[in-house]
Amino acid sequence: MTSSSLIKCVLLSIGAILLVTSSVDAQLSTTFYASKCPNVTAKVADVIKGWIKSDRQMGPALLRLYFHDCFVRGCDASVLLDGSQSEKQAAGNLNSLRGFNIIDDVKAKVEAMCPGVVSCADILALSAKEAMAAFGGITWTVTLGRRDGIVSSVTEGNSDLPPPFANFTQLVSMFAKKGLTMKDMVILSGAHTVGLTRCATMQSRLYSFSSLTPTDPTIEPSFATTLKKQCKQGDQNTIIKMDQSKTTDTWDFNFYSNVIKGKVVFQSDQALRTDSAAFQIVQAQNKAGGPFNSEFQAAMLKLGNIGVLTGNQGQIRKKCNKIN
Ligand code: HEM
Ligand SMILES: *[C@@H]1O[C@H](CO)[C@@H](O)[C@H](O)[C@H]1NC(C)=O
Ligand SMILES: *[C@@H]1O[C@H](CO)[C@@H](O)[C@H](O)[C@H]1NC(C)=O
Repeated sequence: MTSSSLIKCVLLSIGAILLVTSSVDAQLSTTFYASKCPNVTAKVADVIKGWIKSDRQMGPALLRLYFHDCFVRGCDASVLLDGSQSEKQAAGNLNSLRGFNIIDDVKAKVEAMCPGVVSCADILALSAKEAMAAFGGITWTVTLGRRDGIVSSVTEGNSDLPPPFANFTQLVSMFAKKGLTMKDMVILSGAHTVGLTRCATMQSRLYSFSSLTPTDPTIEPSFATTLKKQCKQGDQNTIIKMDQSKTTDTWDFNFYSNVIKGKVVFQSDQALRTDSAAFQIVQAQNKAGGPFNSEFQAAMLKLGNIGVLTGNQGQIRKKCNKIN
């Protein structure tokens, strides 16, 4: 090695170390409550298991609740705050997000055990993970130490939550705004391999797509027929599975095969086919034993770091639906 290439190499290594340090800047840790509330994880797991036993579909619902919290103002439990101008009123949340009652129940039981110690933001992070663990098929590491915000804004909710009709460019820029890459976006979208949707979200795609064609031509024709059978024109309320390729909702990599086949419910899902780099990632995920789960776990860790409040910032709410 010449001395100039040695210097380059050292500088590159320092750069890499700085990058790693800045990505853990959030100062969250897996042991944050080890002395303050050592049994919190077991408690959350216990309460969540009970809820999932009575309605397994609340697993995906809690995963989405967590995603929507993190995407607006960071993972600060702002999505849980009541109010006529709060995030709950945003287009992507209203009549759509589910699981608030479960979070309230978990919070009450954790407060009874460790009063004033565990934030709603952390309870949401733990609940999403435990709910999907109980649902089956995926788990990830949850770092802790978030504090609760005191602001929740419908305007921010409307601008920051991706809509189901978003195109690829819009999706990439909305995720970039949160410090997430195009790949993170493609991997996290894989969550649509589970869960439910209301017919309302696909009315325009099925019946009034454009003046030239009432049905989005990128929907595989037999799949369009399947969807139209379940979601009649004008039906806003019926609830159907997003992954129609299976009878029981399970965590798998079907989302990616569905993208390839044109059998996904949203334009935003199908948009992953419209960019060649994204489509390469889609194809890489579409195989048994592929990288999907480990990449999803890494992306969930990044999602959980978005805009977190730590140290003396924010507060530890007593009740998750209102500030102290
Ligand atoms: C890429 C942009 C995304 C868009 C445009 C989008 C949009 C949507 C929409 C419209 C629904 C159905 C809501 C309803 O019918 O009421 C939905 C459901 C869902 N989404 Fe996403 N989503 C995106 C990304 C994500 C991410 C990153 C995650 C999690 C990591 C996620 C997890 C879920 C889950 C689990 C459901 C089912 C919820 C349930 O069963 O209650 N989504 N999404
Ligand atoms: C921790 O919580 C679990 C689940 O609620 C419970 O079974 C266990 O007894 C608790 N352990 C301690 C030391 O409190
Ligand atoms: C994506 O949507 C935006 C906003 O509607 C639009 O301005 C843009 O031209 C679209 N991009 C593509 C590639 O269709």
